[in-house]
Amino acid sequence: MAEPIRVVVTGAAGQIAYSLLYQLAKGDVFGDQQPLSLHLLDIEPMMGVLNGVVMELQDCALPLLREVIPTADPAVGFKDVDAAFLVGAMPRKEGMERKDLLAANVKIFKAQGQALDQHAKKTVKVLVVGNPANTNSLICSKYAPSIPPANFSAMTRLDQNRAQTQIANRLGVPVNNVSKITIWGNHSSTQFPDVANATVVTASGETKSVKDAINDQAWLNGDFISTVQKRGAAVIAARKLSSAMSAAKAAADHMKDWWNGTPAESWVSMAVFSDGSYNTPVGVMYSFPVRCSKGQWEIVQGLTIDEFAREKLDVTSKELIEEREEALAVCQD
Ligand code: NAI
Repeated sequence: MAEPIRVVVTGAAGQIAYSLLYQLAKGDVFGDQQPLSLHLLDIEPMMGVLNGVVMELQDCALPLLREVIPTADPAVGFKDVDAAFLVGAMPRKEGMERKDLLAANVKIFKAQGQALDQHAKKTVKVLVVGNPANTNSLICSKYAPSIPPANFSAMTRLDQNRAQTQIANRLGVPVNNVSKITIWGNHSSTQFPDVANATVVTASGETKSVKDAINDQAWLNGDFISTVQKRGAAVIAARKLSSAMSAAKAAADHMKDWWNGTPAESWVSMAVFSDGSYNTPVGVMYSFPVRCSKGQWEIVQGLTIDEFAREKLDVTSKELIEEREEALAVCQD
């Protein structure tokens, strides 16, 4: 069996981590032949709670889990890690826009970037989940200059999974029958869930474009988009807490595809540094359709962007530029 890898989860005493840790420890992400050491980082006041999580992980009796290291010290948490799930942050409360969180959370990601820079492997793959995820990831990378920018990403997979389910439910097919949905831009209410290139295997076994199968452009341009954009807020309104089980599943999906690769014919959505593809602003962390192979991602090129899509891509670009400016100002304080 392979040597154990080191995986850190921050916010390890929180809600998302509670669902994520079990998936990691049982091999859902790195494979059922890959042993691992889990580094659990949270803040000092949460160490008691974290100890309970450690006990539960031990009591799961999982053969791949070789070591659990709970800590409030980033130097220990990030030491030699191969993969980092940066979940820890202040969660959005009911009525709060993600922007309100920016000032508080961006400082956490500056400090964690510095700690990654000093202590993690240079090959570490970093997935930022804590909101505002795209901009936090950008800041984290900026303060970790010794790690390649391509090793940083932010999560829009939950939005992709939500969009995929909306389409599958509408067509009465299993969720896996729907592919090539793209989330463009920011993980916020300006994101653009795009089905222009999406396909579905219908109940009769035929492969069709989602547009043709749904045959209701008004719904696709209206309720579908707004349902996906506002799904996070709807879950908060219902649960009085932000999405956790589904966010953990999406984080596992994101890292699994990055680590192991995506199917050649399909793609997934990941927020990564824009290189200007599709006339998006260079240097913001923008969600694109990507294909992954051998641990590297590549933006899918050549998709048609019509006028409707162009407008949506530009709106979310503008928000990301604004967030970047605000975040850089906060970091200089
Ligand atoms: P939670 O409040 O249950 O847990 C957050 C944990 O982070 C707490 O245990 C807290 O002590 C810890 N924490 C705070 N500062 C820290 C630091 N400096 N270092 C290490 N740990 C720290 O929150 P939950 O529900 O687990 O959500 C975490 C984040 O994920 C929030 O920012 C939330 O908005 C975001 N989120 C992102 C989604 C996405 O699709 N990108 C979806 C859902 C949530």
